[in-house]
Amino acid sequence: MDITILGIESSCDDTSAAVIRNRKLLSNVIASQEVHRKYGGVIPELASRAHQQNIIPVVDTALKEAGVAPEELDGIAFTRGPGLLGSLLVGVSFAKGLALSHDIPMMEINHLQGHISSHFIDLPDRDLPHPSFPFLCLLVSGGHSQIVLVRDYADMEIVGTTIDDAAGEAFDKCAKVMGLPYPGGPVIDRLAAQGDPKRFRFAKPSVDGFDYSFSGLKTSFLYFLRDRVHEDPDFIERNKADLCASLQSTIIDILLGKLVKAAKQYDIREIAIAGGVSANSGLRTAIEREGAKRKWHTYLPEFKFTTDNAAMIAITGYFKYQRGEFADMSVAPVARISAM
Ligand code: KG4
Ligand code: ZN
Repeated sequence: MDITILGIESSCDDTSAAVIRNRKLLSNVIASQEVHRKYGGVIPELASRAHQQNIIPVVDTALKEAGVAPEELDGIAFTRGPGLLGSLLVGVSFAKGLALSHDIPMMEINHLQGHISSHFIDLPDRDLPHPSFPFLCLLVSGGHSQIVLVRDYADMEIVGTTIDDAAGEAFDKCAKVMGLPYPGGPVIDRLAAQGDPKRFRFAKPSVDGFDYSFSGLKTSFLYFLRDRVHEDPDFIERNKADLCASLQSTIIDILLGKLVKAAKQYDIREIAIAGGVSANSGLRTAIEREGAKRKWHTYLPEFKFTTDNAAMIAITGYFKYQRGEFADMSVAPVARISAM
């Protein structure tokens, strides 16, 4: 029997809706909010207002593109958290309203589990490669950097996590210091392609186990620039590409170091990456190179599944639906992962 799921994602600054039938993605609509760009970061109050404006047309378009009527939906999956409370509230409330009016069950989804589950999606015209269990997933987004041991669709254990900033945050904050627009990750990625990654050296953290830290790198980058700009006001402008390349390669080294360590310790060669930073071309190349050296099977998500999207929420909902794990009308959004 076919199972058709609507996914809704509204945890940060993208309003997204997607329809999945079994594992096949029928539609995935994303409205990115441009209002934040001029502020150099996401303004929570503006984000929730934009979600309110976007949610009905985005869901409507996703259903139309999929050729699915609301009555044909078997379940509605929505992001419960972690994320911005006001933003999450829009998606959660909308999901409740739709579920109530059509008498459809709902599934609450952990956004981070969603990023990892994007590896289980298939496209209408082709199946994608799926990692086999158990695998390790390097989950790198704007808010989180984790190494997750995935034993099954529902059995995910965080074995390493950042003790301060996330990798995406390091990209975004360092970009801001260089006067680059938000979000900084894609901009640094583009500029780094023309730069020398060995030109500058920045501090690498020493943290126990599989945990990450990026705030030291950010501080060392900041002080380095301050000293240089003091001597030469045009320093950043003239060295932008080398700065981006060197910063990016430091972040990649930090990420890969712990991933290699975890792969050895758990004796796992199925290695995936997920989250917004997994769009980074340097990271993708480095993972493939490391994988070839260590005989890993590496899984890089399609670009459209790297940053926030509802397809990943719908697929996670599909597996929850199969297990009969439904949310009731009292469900409320949560800002932090520790509350989930
Ligand atoms: O997963 P995501 O869309 O949102 C969160 O759940 O946080 O990740 C957003 C993050 C931002 O920090 C952004 O700068 C980063 O992903 N990002 C990139 C690239 N594309 C997006 N970082 C490095 N290189 C990229 N190409
Ligand atoms: Zn995300």
